[in-house]
Amino acid sequence: MHRTACALFLTLTLVVLAGCGAADGDRLVLVDDPAGVLLDDEVMTALNAAGVTALLAPAAEDPALVELGQALFFDKLLSGNENISCATCHHPVAGTGDALPVSLGEGGIGLGANREQAASALIPRNAPHLFNGGVPGVDAMFWDSRVTRNASTGELDTPEPGLNGAAPTLLDHAAPLTSALAAQAMFPVTSREEMRGQIDGGNADDLRDAATNADVWSALMARIVGTSDGTVGGFDGYRALFDAAYPSITNYDDLTFGHAARAIAAFERETWTALDSPFDRFLGGDASAMSDSAKRGAKLFFGAASCSTCHNGPFLSDFQHHAVCVPQVGPGKNAPSEDLGLSLETGDSADDYKFRTPTLRNVALTAPYMHDGAFMTLEEVVRHHLDPQASLAAYDGSLLPDLFAATLDTDAGRNAARAAALSPLHPTSVVLTDDEFDDLMAFLHALTDPSSVSLLDEVPDEVPSGLPVKD
Ligand code: HEC
Ligand code: HEC
Repeated sequence: MHRTACALFLTLTLVVLAGCGAADGDRLVLVDDPAGVLLDDEVMTALNAAGVTALLAPAAEDPALVELGQALFFDKLLSGNENISCATCHHPVAGTGDALPVSLGEGGIGLGANREQAASALIPRNAPHLFNGGVPGVDAMFWDSRVTRNASTGELDTPEPGLNGAAPTLLDHAAPLTSALAAQAMFPVTSREEMRGQIDGGNADDLRDAATNADVWSALMARIVGTSDGTVGGFDGYRALFDAAYPSITNYDDLTFGHAARAIAAFERETWTALDSPFDRFLGGDASAMSDSAKRGAKLFFGAASCSTCHNGPFLSDFQHHAVCVPQVGPGKNAPSEDLGLSLETGDSADDYKFRTPTLRNVALTAPYMHDGAFMTLEEVVRHHLDPQASLAAYDGSLLPDLFAATLDTDAGRNAARAAALSPLHPTSVVLTDDEFDDLMAFLHALTDPSSVSLLDEVPDEVPSGLPVKD
């Protein structure tokens, strides 16, 4: 084994005791690959510089919590008009997203790329994938990080003040929210367009008439488990699942939607933690896990193409927010055809058009891309990054499905503002040969965990409410 390779692996803080190539346990193993050693050294040096270390698998979840969470995730009972579930927008058939540029809310019909608008509203943003959202280190949710959890204090910062801070007034709801992922699950049900119900005439009255978020959450728990005295509904199937998941809670009135959200997060984490890509195996010491093309691509990603200025650390995200000249697709967030991103949260115009750097595991499975799904393919979004201002200027939305292409913002003034906001950290032009571009793509494909390619066995046959799960 090459001595430099050993030295570099040592700098990864893992102890290699008796030469590379024959370690076990927690120690790093470098499979003999004499021809590729120099390239491996270069990739390892680049990974070190970008703070990339192997991701730590989360602790296993209680199977009872996971089973409850799976039922809730796929159950349309959680929506006002019983016509949409979490899974509608985060489905196994679409890499835990919905394959649409921006989501279609309640009242839409069907799943994935075939979903039809029908009576639904276009949601302002793209439904992100849920891969690795429960891995320790992910403390922020949404494209603008409007839900965060401080990992050391456990304090939440969310759109519902009652959940936030050291002494939340809605303590019964906040206490079970032991991760940012769990805190996030409180919110889709509070959005009228997404789940709560914007259409009159359905059976959404209990949610529609609720005055506060807490009232929405209580109304949902009344639907799901009912009340202890048996005067209000509930499903026996859910009572049994909650009994198993929370055996210490003996009174149904003591369950809150926080307990439901905690279970949903357990399901998401258990099911969509994906840490076995060729890249992860390479990080684990198997130098043969990535092709030479992917390794050359990694050198570009962490080197000449400057991707790791933002896509760095164990998740290939700095979890910061940057403006990268994304064309505006969809209805707009703060105004028609406008989404100012992070500044809507911070109130600081210096944050205009900033969105959170996405993590990149399984990125080849999670099209469309960006906060509004403006790019339908991985190749397009990578080409955009090579010269974001020129890409914005040339963008015509012609690859988008018609419904979304019709929403493209062509206003010259707003597009000039988007172009001018480009992060100073972002290169204005990166020139790659065709071979180099192919290598960069090979690296991004090496981030795919093979077990994530087909996820259909995660769809349950039925849910306790008896509502349909297959559409
Ligand atoms: C109508 C489609 C829709 C439904 C239904 C829906 N989501 Fe989402 N989800 C989205 C969109 C769009 C976003 C991004 C919104 C934003 O960032 O402003 C999102 C964001 C998320 C995120 C944050 C991911 C990240 O990386 O920041 C998680 C987790 C999530 N949803 C889980 C859920 C759960 C759990 C449910 C059910 C309780 C649910 N979603 C229901 C569309 C939907
Ligand atoms: C200045 C920081 C920065 C740099 C440099 C950068 N990115 Fe990004 N990247 C982002 C941000 C921020 C987004 C999301 C932007 C949005 O949605 O508005 C993003 C989005 C992406 C996406 C889409 C992911 C998804 O889930 O939608 C891919 C793929 C990607 N970047 C790859 C790259 C590659 C490859 C490079 C180098 C050629 C690169 N990035 C350079 C910040 C950066």
